[in-house]
Amino acid sequence: MKFFVDSADLEQITDLNNIGLVDGVTTNPSIIAKSGRDFKDVVAAICALVEGPVSAEVTAVEADKMVNEGRELCKIAENICIKLPLTLDGLKACSVLSREGASTNMTLCFSPNQALLAAKCGATFVSPFIGRLDDISLDGLELIADICTIYDNYGFDTEVLAASIRNVNHVKECALAGADVMTAPPGVIRQLAAHPLTDKGLTAFLEDWKGTGQSIL
Ligand code: E4P
Repeated sequence: MKFFVDSADLEQITDLNNIGLVDGVTTNPSIIAKSGRDFKDVVAAICALVEGPVSAEVTAVEADKMVNEGRELCKIAENICIKLPLTLDGLKACSVLSREGASTNMTLCFSPNQALLAAKCGATFVSPFIGRLDDISLDGLELIADICTIYDNYGFDTEVLAASIRNVNHVKECALAGADVMTAPPGVIRQLAAHPLTDKGLTAFLEDWKGTGQSIL
């Protein structure tokens, strides 16, 4: 499973990248607004930090304008992935940009049928949003499992990028369902390493080691 960081925080991305946990980055207009930085500048900085795909989202709503914005964003760096909303216009723009060889990420996917359309239009990634479905008492994890089944049934190349992940259980369930990628805020990724028994065990080991009076170096 690939790990993408859902953030435009360069420090957090760098820290996780240094641990070896960053296969790519996703941004959206809200994340860019939160960064307080110029869109193209911050995306260029992220692209220079990580080797994998960096999703940058168009803000137009008509297909031809999305295509123009997508082509402009592609000039930022080779690892730019054009993020497009899962509307009919977004699908049309996805078909055009994918045929031109651009990497594409169909975002705001909330149903298996939307994911089916994304695959048919040649999307590189589809982003089903788990947390936002959970917020309205629907089952976001069931959506991931359904899309994985549908893509497997037909051998689609589009990768399932589980998004809107809010907690570590979401990550585990996505991995069990077979999602190709998950994108999560830095805090959730860090929390994946946490376990009270690990902390307790380490404290005991270090205490006993101290008692031996030895050192490795
Ligand atoms: C995905 O690409 C989105 O940027 C993100 O996962 C949305 O998450 P949210 O629903 O927590 O805002």
